[in-house]
Amino acid sequence: MNWDDESAYAPSPAADRLVDTVADGEDQAVEAALRPKDLGEFVGQERVREQLDLVLKAARARGATADHVLLSGAPGLGKTTLSMIIAAEMGAPIRITSGPAIQHAGDLAAILSSLTEGEVLFLDEIHRMSRPAEEMLYMAMEDFRVDVIVGKGPGATAIPLELPPFTLVGATTRAGLLPPPLRDRFGFTGHMEFYAPAELQRVVHRSARLLDVAIEAEGAAEIAGRSRGTPRIANRLLRRVRDYAQVKADGVITREIAAQALQVYEVDARGLDRLDRAVLTALLKLFGGGPVGLSTLAVAVGEERETVEEVAEPFLVREGLLARTPRGRVATPAAWAHLGLVPPGQGAPGAGQGGLFAE
Ligand SMILES: Nc1ncnc2c1ncn2[C@@H]1O[C@H](COP(=O)(O)OP(=O)(O)OP(=O)(O)O)[C@@H](O)[C@H]1O
Ligand SMILES: [Mg+2]
Repeated sequence: MNWDDESAYAPSPAADRLVDTVADGEDQAVEAALRPKDLGEFVGQERVREQLDLVLKAARARGATADHVLLSGAPGLGKTTLSMIIAAEMGAPIRITSGPAIQHAGDLAAILSSLTEGEVLFLDEIHRMSRPAEEMLYMAMEDFRVDVIVGKGPGATAIPLELPPFTLVGATTRAGLLPPPLRDRFGFTGHMEFYAPAELQRVVHRSARLLDVAIEAEGAAEIAGRSRGTPRIANRLLRRVRDYAQVKADGVITREIAAQALQVYEVDARGLDRLDRAVLTALLKLFGGGPVGLSTLAVAVGEERETVEEVAEPFLVREGLLARTPRGRVATPAAWAHLGLVPPGQGAPGAGQGGLFAE
């Protein structure tokens, strides 16, 4: 099959919102074109890469099928990319599906029974699989066997079906949601971390080369610094900056061009986008920095509760701009500073400490 065909599974919505003016089709095609094809091309994630390299090399040396691999980490960090690399490094074909696509155990049985020896089965969003399918998967992973149930009620019989050895690569953004029996059946778990700015800068340079875009080191650094530690976002911002550079300048991405372009797309110096800033602004201006309940905050910015919680907040928390407390969401001093506002009670600059002692 075509390894870059991603139509078989749904990408996580959270990761696909940034600069949402772009059609998804173009996005996916470009994303596929930019995927590193082997471990050597894969930037960063030193630890996971080294560990995985050992797992794969050892399996190859034994002439065996690689152990099952679980990849966990936030959207856009390279889980799908790594799964394709695993197959490539093993010289094996890959089958791509996802937890939500497997609602019945029968769906899974159909996939498993058609695998060939050594094939890699990539199960994206594995935490969203149905319980019966999950139980079938336990047996398949451990014993390379499934019981196919034929018939219904008292007359139903289980027909055991042998499977060829295969490598399951599971990906999840929520490792905590995986039941321990499933987690324990993976021979190797790779936890993907957010990328350092220097690593993202390498990602940007690599992508610019593939897209045939001229970029200066400082331009790449500017994009990397606003990419939230995430290669997918770095690639997306690069494409928007490229557009700007083509239309407004001579096509070369300098630091100034990158900064100007990202201002147009409302991505600020720290990588906050429109939604992040709306949430922070509401928290500071309407609720004095909190604490305020999530639902109230969501209504204030006109978004769904889930959008605020799952899309905006993780980044804001990670950046130390917002804290989740039992009493509600609270802005940190860094949030006031980032938006150039003064926390209540501290007075305007130059007003002195008088407020504390007045009355
Ligand atoms: N280490 C890396 N080096 C270079 N590019 C990378 C790296 N990791 C990811 N990318 C780029 O980022 C994009 C997104 O990666 P990928 O689709 O693998 O993320 P994901 O973890 O599967 O995300 P999701 O959880 O949303 O499915 C890819 O197009 C790829 O080009
Ligand atoms: Mg993915």
